[in-house]
Parts: sequence; C-alpha cells; structure tokens
Amino acid sequence: VQILEHDQIASTLAARIAQIIRTANSEGRAAVLGLATGSTPIGIYRQLIRMHREEGLDFSNVVTFNLDEYYPMAPDSIHSYHRYMWENLFEHINIPRENVHLPRGDLPRDQVEAHCEGYEQAIRDAGGIDFQLLGIGKTGHIGFNEPGSGVESRTRLLPLDTVTRRDAAADFFGEDNVPTEAITMGVASILDAREIALIATGEHKARVIRRAVEGEPDPDVAATYLQSHPDATFYLDPAAAAEL
Ligand code: GLP
Repeated sequence: VQILEHDQIASTLAARIAQIIRTANSEGRAAVLGLATGSTPIGIYRQLIRMHREEGLDFSNVVTFNLDEYYPMAPDSIHSYHRYMWENLFEHINIPRENVHLPRGDLPRDQVEAHCEGYEQAIRDAGGIDFQLLGIGKTGHIGFNEPGSGVESRTRLLPLDTVTRRDAAADFFGEDNVPTEAITMGVASILDAREIALIATGEHKARVIRRAVEGEPDPDVAATYLQSHPDATFYLDPAAAAEL
C-alpha cells in the first residue's frame, strides 16, 4: 500500500508507465498495458498525453487491453468505454489503431462467448500484460468482476450488481438507463499481469479499500485477490486509506 496525495498518484503512475514504455522501446519489443476507465485514471492519461507532446513519449509500439465494456453498448455511444478511451487518451497519442483492444459491447449475444475467448487469446498472443491499471467499484469489483467472481474467472459477460448500476445512474441520466450487463476481463486474466496498480481516492472508497486490503481473499470482493499477487500495489490518497 502506498499513500500519496491524489495528484502525486497520477504523476507516480504516469512516470512508471512511461518507464515501461521506454524500456520496451529500447529493447525493441511492445509494451503491453492493461487499462481502466472511470474517473480515477483520468489524471494519469492527461500526464501521458503531456509526456507524448512535450517529451516525445512514443506509443507506436504500445499494445493496450481495456478491462471492460457495458453490454449492450455501441462503441460511439457517449456512455461507451470505447469512446472514453479514444477521447481521454488514444486520439491524443500515436498509438496504432490495431494495437488497441477493448471488449466489444455491440456484438449479438451468440457471438459474445467466442469474442471473450478471442480476447484472452489476443492477450496471450501479445505476450501477456506488463502493467495493469485498476480502479475499484463500491462492490469491490476490479474491471466489472462483481461479487461472486472467482479467482479462476476469465473474460466473460456477466450481470451488473445493483450497487454498481446505482453508482452509474448519474452518468446515464437514471438507473433505468444503465445497462444490466457488461463484458469484463476476469480475476484470473487480471492476476496474470506482471505488475498491477490499483488506485482509489476519496472517502467513499475507504470502506471497500479496507475490505480489499485487510479482508480474507473472497469472491464477494474481487480486489481481495490482489493480495496474492507478487507485484500489486494499492495507491491510495489519505481519504481512501482512512479506515486501514
Ligand atoms: C466502473 C469500472 C471500473 C472502475 C469503477 C470505479 O465500475 N468498470 O473499472 O474502477 O467504475 O470508477 P471511478 O474511478 O469513477 O470511481
């Protein structure tokens, strides 16, 4: 656990990601990043964009895999994580379009399972994830691994928890408009990453952070499984760490 001020968390993690990219570039291989959405990573993405513009940080050999997407969800919807990622990061850096991967929320239901298997295969083909960024939801979910998500879970379609849908209600102008399902990388897909950083800021995260950091590993709080990972760090501001 690292406790830092909010803006220090963003600069620390942006610097770490930049270092991973530069090392991979100098070794002539791709840097594979696992990325997250939500309000928490925005500061990191801003700093990465600044480093691209001012320091020439080169994303041409970066490959990304996002954690999740609502289902159903059109990629151009204002609520989609596709759109979030392009607007908040990808369109401002020199990442090739074909290097970007997000679960697709726009496929017919009978194609979703094959798509999820293909997503796992694409991660393996890329050589696995070097660095995985995570936020945390009120239910303790990482990605959209809601209560009941086991340590062996892989990329799949699953129903969203009522608490999660209520949390997203403001973004969707009402809870009834929040999709009832999502596609998410599983707990096992996340734990396969070589290095993991979970970020949580604000007092509204304090309770779930205590469970995630101090609770027994438990499918009811997927973030508890990070405790068993050899290189996972919780980056918390003092408010989110208040109940530890
Ligand atoms: C959503 C996302 C999560 C994210 C969480 C917290 O549920 N699927 O990946 O961590 O929201 O979002 P925020 O960072 O806005 O608190």
